[in-house]
Amino acid sequence: MTNGSKGKDLFKSKSGFSQTSKPYILATDFPFLIWSKLPWRNKQVLIIADSGDNILNLLSLKPKQIVAIDIALKACFVNEIKTKAMQYLSFQEFRSLFAPPFSNPFLPKITKEEKLAIYLKIKHFLSLPVRNWLAEEINSHPKGFLFPNWRELTFAHLIPHFADERQFERIKSFLKPYSLLNLPIEKALKELEENYDLIYLSNIPEYIKQSLKEQDKDSEILDNLMEIYGLSFQKLKRGGYILFYSFGDALKCPELILEENQIAKILGLKLRLMPIKFSTPLIKDSCFVHTLGLMAK
Ligand SMILES: C[S@@+](CC[C@H](N)C(=O)[O-])C[C@H]1O[C@@H](n2cnc3c(N)ncnc32)[C@H](O)[C@@H]1O
Repeated sequence: MTNGSKGKDLFKSKSGFSQTSKPYILATDFPFLIWSKLPWRNKQVLIIADSGDNILNLLSLKPKQIVAIDIALKACFVNEIKTKAMQYLSFQEFRSLFAPPFSNPFLPKITKEEKLAIYLKIKHFLSLPVRNWLAEEINSHPKGFLFPNWRELTFAHLIPHFADERQFERIKSFLKPYSLLNLPIEKALKELEENYDLIYLSNIPEYIKQSLKEQDKDSEILDNLMEIYGLSFQKLKRGGYILFYSFGDALKCPELILEENQIAKILGLKLRLMPIKFSTPLIKDSCFVHTLGLMAK
């Protein structure tokens, strides 16, 4: 893992995240439910690291190279832990390492002591900064460490390597290391030299819109989004895709992607929307629709 920080220069982004943001332990965006509809084979991919689950679900689709970026240092740590845990632990141990200390329908309930015993099996495979962080977490949280919150748990059943042992073993068989850079995507897009076939921006554009709206800076939204999509466009290979995620049904609510429509026109890109439908057994008859947006060169 490369830490792009210099001294006290903590990264900040208009997305509202910074270098010290809390990491996601489990994915809360689910583009991997439709990853197989996209052409990853032999492609170079630039992707937001997040909890690492989106990336683990990409590996069987055989991209040539994955470069994962995250502004949050601890998100990079979680990615490192997750790949080592998948490599060296059994399915039950893997699930338990990222399980909470309370009863829940999807992951085992685990005590701090039980989790510590599992962690010790992979500790020596982890880098020093990750071990130091976990030592701090273990000391400061009496109930446990590395555990997801309820929002993350509500959809844990969707994540194949947490939900099903056969899927876990399948994904494990494709496991390979990927580059992890602790940088804001805005900075990474300026500094990286290579170009990419697919660039997954997650819902960072959505967060930028939301945080500027909260500050009554609606008039700055288009310029800020233009910057991130424009930089992505410059790093995109011919025939490539910029991917973004929306937490709503953008086909039914086009206002969710108002700026993306404008930006695609300005950049001369074709915009396509793919709905992602899912539910959770925790909410009776639930049906959610999120959207994966594709801008194609
Ligand atoms: C965009 S967040 C959203 C996660 C999830 N989709 C949700 O909303 O619940 C996913 C990841 O993006 C990272 N992130 C946010 N802004 C970023 C930026 N400007 N550059 C790089 N990573 C960023 C966060 O640290 C986090 O790990």
